[in-house]
Amino acid sequence: MLDSNSLRKKYLDFFAKRGHTVIPSASLIPENDPTVLFTTAGMQPLVPYLLGQKHPGGKRLTDVQKCVRTGDIDEVGDDTHCTFFEMLGNWSLGDYFKRESIAWSYEFLTKELGISPDKLAVTVFAGDEDCPRDEESAARWKEMGIPEDRIFYLPKENNWWIAGTTGPCGEDTEIFYIDESKPGESPADDGGKYVEIWNNVFMHYYKHPDGSYTELQQKNIDTGMGLERTLMTLNGYRSVYDTDVLRPVAELLRKKISCDSAEAERAVRIIADHTRTATFILGDPRGVAPSNVDRGYILRRLIRRAVRFARQLGLDASVLSECAAEYIAIYGDFYTELKENSEKILEELRLETEKFDKTLHQGLKEFEKLLGYIKDNRISGKAAFRLYDTYGFPPEMTVELSREHGVTVDMEGFTRAFNEHQQKSKAGAEQKFKGGLSDSGAETTRLHTATHLLMEALRRVLKDPTIMQKGSNITPERLRLDFNFPRPLTAEEIAAVEEKVNEAIAADVVVTCEEMTPDEAHAQGAVGVFGDRYGDVVKVYTMGGYSKEICGGPHAAHTGELGRFKIVKEQSSSAGIRRIKAVLEA
Ligand code: SER
Repeated sequence: MLDSNSLRKKYLDFFAKRGHTVIPSASLIPENDPTVLFTTAGMQPLVPYLLGQKHPGGKRLTDVQKCVRTGDIDEVGDDTHCTFFEMLGNWSLGDYFKRESIAWSYEFLTKELGISPDKLAVTVFAGDEDCPRDEESAARWKEMGIPEDRIFYLPKENNWWIAGTTGPCGEDTEIFYIDESKPGESPADDGGKYVEIWNNVFMHYYKHPDGSYTELQQKNIDTGMGLERTLMTLNGYRSVYDTDVLRPVAELLRKKISCDSAEAERAVRIIADHTRTATFILGDPRGVAPSNVDRGYILRRLIRRAVRFARQLGLDASVLSECAAEYIAIYGDFYTELKENSEKILEELRLETEKFDKTLHQGLKEFEKLLGYIKDNRISGKAAFRLYDTYGFPPEMTVELSREHGVTVDMEGFTRAFNEHQQKSKAGAEQKFKGGLSDSGAETTRLHTATHLLMEALRRVLKDPTIMQKGSNITPERLRLDFNFPRPLTAEEIAAVEEKVNEAIAADVVVTCEEMTPDEAHAQGAVGVFGDRYGDVVKVYTMGGYSKEICGGPHAAHTGELGRFKIVKEQSSSAGIRRIKAVLEA
């Protein structure tokens, strides 16, 4: 049997022996990038280095990265989907390329992991107008001994990798384990015969917002292997819940319940999955607590959803803490932060589950009652809002419960009810929806709005649409914004930026907020990093024609409230990152 500790060790040792520096997993909460909710791939914390910045570890790196992806949360409960997973990865930052990457992947799989070469199939990029057919990778695979009929040429849809919609990207070659017991014509269909275990990305392009591609200044390798998936496949397990990282918790839950239906098994898996993700988010060095915004809200949804499924199994909500304690034991030696933060993890879980558990029972009763008198099989926005406001039901949970009963929910009505409520109790709402501010007092809120105007002014004055917020800190006295730009700003540029912001303030435009999908936000040109990094719904704040940005709020009602904007300092923050401090004068 191959267990998680030996797989991590074998992987890191193998690449360390080949000149790679072993780096620790980065935080699950991306640094310097408040627009991204969680780290979703090993390459994400490495983007500056893929773009050319020098990494202190050199040009060859390897790690095991903690990742959270909540885009497929509805699939959790099946054999393979998880909201948390570990990604084993190795990188070449402008060093080796296809030849070494493919040879080492083959060697690792067949020699270190002992997979029979007959069990491997690969895909390579078929070529299109943006990038030629990847004959080189195919030739390398043939050199390794993979026969032609197990090399599949596939289009961008399958063999191209990018995090989101813009940024570093390139063609990839994916490696599959063949499960003869399942049907399948090629890795492009999902009969189950071809199980993807590793993805080697040849990251040498940059995709721009207008859809065009340019060559990066260096050719990079970015590979990713899912730890749980690989353990499952190589051990011949049916699901990831049989691997040593998840099985103890699944077993703990199964032992507590009497039935073994497919429905019960799904609930067990959902609880095991969500509790694991919650444990890692709470235990992260930059960890957050449950709240009603951004990351805290995702965490809250995960915990509350797990509590609901625990209830469904007749289990007390405190079972989540038992699961978390088990995870701390399973992972604590490798991810020492879990041990260091174990008290915090267990305490926050206890607080959140108790809070929710108190109202869940009543909320479910209320929901059942509701089913009795709804019209057209539809739950009104007001009723959904009441479940949220009074019983703490995240709207997604109401939608999910409704779906189970063949009923729909008026989500537009929910958003309307939500906004009305927000306006009615603005002070309270400000507190609830504050995002990354030291407080949500009037001064901080106004400076937050000024930060958005500053962001857009910088992009326009410096004529650089790749400028993004890399950090922000706002106190009642001043704002501080970090952004990527390669050189100091000139006095003229600083004056021009101030003028642009003051122009927007003088125009006194209304600040509006809308909820939409990340795709819609992107289509509308909102500033933010796109891809599966956001949840299903984001808030977009618009300030006339002066700014449109994804953000959690709060903001001033109109820009005229802001006073006169003045930059007090422009300095370097770190390599390639500038820092501006600014104030609003009465
Ligand atoms: N970035 C690629 C992925 O996430 C390979 O690491 O699959």
